Amino acid sequence: MKSGTKLKRVQTGIEGLDKLMQGGLPLNSSTLITGGPGTGKTILAMQYIVNGAAKYNENGLYVSFEQRANALKQQAKQFGWNIDALEKKGKIKLLCISSKDINAEIIDDIVSIIKRHKIKRLVIDSLSTLTINAPIYSKISEMAVKDVIGENTILYPPVIGENIVSKFIYAFIDSLGDLESCTTLLIAESAEERVSQRFIGAYVCDGVIELTFEALGGEFSRSLLIRKMRQTKSDEDIHPLEIISKGIKVHDVVK
Ligand SMILES: Nc1ncnc2c1ncn2[C@@H]1O[C@H](COP(=O)(O)OP(=O)(O)O)[C@@H](O)[C@H]1O
Ligand SMILES: [Mg+2]
Repeated sequence: MKSGTKLKRVQTGIEGLDKLMQGGLPLNSSTLITGGPGTGKTILAMQYIVNGAAKYNENGLYVSFEQRANALKQQAKQFGWNIDALEKKGKIKLLCISSKDINAEIIDDIVSIIKRHKIKRLVIDSLSTLTINAPIYSKISEMAVKDVIGENTILYPPVIGENIVSKFIYAFIDSLGDLESCTTLLIAESAEERVSQRFIGAYVCDGVIELTFEALGGEFSRSLLIRKMRQTKSDEDIHPLEIISKGIKVHDVVK
């Protein structure tokens, strides 16, 4: 994210969310959406893309390493979102890549689609899958190792591997910052609901939004917390989140 005088905001259009971050996501920022399975990450991210296309006339690219296009479209249909129609109009692109097909060119491919189709909103679902399948794992060359840890450092192999993957993820998120009119949501699976201290994405990204789905007093409830948002005075409360017929709704906190 480039710093400027007046920060432009990108509205998610998700009920109750934009007002928690001074009107929306900072333009050209990357925000991590973290949470366990079923917390609503994919629905939230799809709603961001659909709203961009349908309400704000902004083209969106949804990259999924997790689900096939048909499954995503079916899920969207439940909320009244017609992905096929928006695709036909050229407002939305779905790019579904099987994790086994992730290769070293993936960053360049995504960047070139963004430029070619004037994409303003990007979703990566998920950064976790990309991290696990990072192409660099399969070719740890001496060059790459030197590049990451320096010539005189002695580290045992798992640490070397982790550093190389971190570098790949860092380079990916960093390259998104060069796409000045594009604003990104990166999804991260977190088993323990709260974001891992070691997960590099959380440090490199401009923002972190945590979703949870927990049993509280015998009832299941969903919540949303803005953990971090650079250049923004963001709300610090844990907000109830509901999945309703129109998608996600973030509630005010009753004090
Ligand atoms: N039409 C719907 N109405 C209400 N809740 C739904 C609906 N469709 C899915 N859900 C809930 O959303 C969850 C899936 O949300 P999703 O965004 O795919 O989660 P994830 O965080 O794993 O990406 C489901 O487990 C279900 O509880
Ligand atoms: Mg998901």
